[in-house]
Amino acid sequence: MAYERKEISIEKIREQEKICAEINEKLGEKPRLAMVDTYGCQQNEADSEKIRGYLAEMGYGFTMNEFEADIIVVNTCAVREHAEMRVLGNVGQLNHAKKAKPNQIIAVCGCMVQQEHMAEKIRKSYPIVDMVFGPHELWRFPELLKQVMFSKKRKRVFETSPCDGTVAEGIPLKRDGSVKAWLSIMYGCNNFCTYCIVPYVRGRERSRKPEDIVAEARELVAAGYKEITLLGQNVNSYGKDLGLNVDFADLIRMINDIPGEFLIRFMTSHPKDATEKLFKTMAECEKCAHQLHLPVQSGNDRVLKAMNRHYDSAKYLKQVELARSYMPDLVITTDIIVGFPGETDEEFEDTIRLCEKVRYDAMFTFIYSKRVGTPAATMPDAASREDKQVRFDKLLAVANKISGEKHAEYEGKTLRVLVDGETGKPEFNLSSRTNGGRLVHLKGDPALIGKFVDVEIESSNTWALYGHEK
Ligand code: 5AD
Ligand code: SF4
Repeated sequence: MAYERKEISIEKIREQEKICAEINEKLGEKPRLAMVDTYGCQQNEADSEKIRGYLAEMGYGFTMNEFEADIIVVNTCAVREHAEMRVLGNVGQLNHAKKAKPNQIIAVCGCMVQQEHMAEKIRKSYPIVDMVFGPHELWRFPELLKQVMFSKKRKRVFETSPCDGTVAEGIPLKRDGSVKAWLSIMYGCNNFCTYCIVPYVRGRERSRKPEDIVAEARELVAAGYKEITLLGQNVNSYGKDLGLNVDFADLIRMINDIPGEFLIRFMTSHPKDATEKLFKTMAECEKCAHQLHLPVQSGNDRVLKAMNRHYDSAKYLKQVELARSYMPDLVITTDIIVGFPGETDEEFEDTIRLCEKVRYDAMFTFIYSKRVGTPAATMPDAASREDKQVRFDKLLAVANKISGEKHAEYEGKTLRVLVDGETGKPEFNLSSRTNGGRLVHLKGDPALIGKFVDVEIESSNTWALYGHEK
């Protein structure tokens, strides 16, 4: 597939940072607050950290109260209609804040507005929005903001040109937490699953260079982060576009070699190209969590083909078996779409059967949502919304039952967890995650946050484990 990798030079990012400094100076001593509201996946969370990074350099503090904010940035998702409806509803509601604060700047960015029809909808029906920019323009947020901020009569700026995708290094980051960090290793997707909008809005696969990723991981470890989650739409194809002979497994090993006590997680793995080398590497690298998010989407071979997933249920099950042969304690999770166009009740039953065979630790289940411009949007879809809801409820019941049973197996065992925050609840005041990523609530001193501790599990339910420090 021919595509153009557009590298944004570090000088260009420095120019953007100069604009931040300029805005900072112009706004002077005036206290100012920004609100960044993020929808969707971890990649979007990571993008929002860059927006916050730029805003911090402009002297903004942060709030989640829209009435206090001088700038509001809504970072949107396009994966399902539900997320888009929520965004539009919430942007509409910002009307009240803007009335109370007429100089407030409202920006909408991310995947949703990269779709032409959505950018148009905002242009026409949401006059309170001053600024719209797609994921490929994020690196020049300061420049776009400056155009809005210092225009005489408030100018609206729309930047959502189609693009194969940019790779920018050196954008300042303001991270959300101090224990866990996101680390994007690649952007975009080449797979074109027939239901999915991501390849259209995020462009083709672009890997960051291994040295840039390792340098960022080193900085994170030095700053005291204890968990690094490597992000990509399909991490298993990491490096294919670089031609450097470094694949995803090699990258894990390079990060594992960084001295220090920390955990490496990653998502998402596409089953079509998860390799034995990856499983072996995960098993051998002591810092790599034994956790695999391996979205199956459906357990029926005809549906998988219509989804353009490039594997069948037998190949998928073999991969699961292979992964477990290297890591018997592996925690496996998945994504499933119910009601893909043309899916019959019998075909859906294959999904149930597959889930019962794999016995996932957790399943993320979605009802198919039609996305404009994707091949599936034009496929005949006879099943009604009610039929799909019945299937969805059935799948959820199976998922919950299996998760509950798997969680119960932990009772009485002692597990090493990373304490990552407070729950706000008195009996089990701390939250933590096991190596495999299972949620554990425990009672303990908040000073434990950011530490690895051994916890004895005393009880469990579908969603979490409960225990005390050993
Ligand atoms: N409808 C429903 N779910 C979808 N996903 C992606 N596109 C759609 C869609 N059109 C789900 C897939 C993917 C997860 C991130 O979202 O299961 O793995
Ligand atoms: Fe979408 Fe498929 Fe790419 Fe995942 S791998 S982002 S589901 S096209």
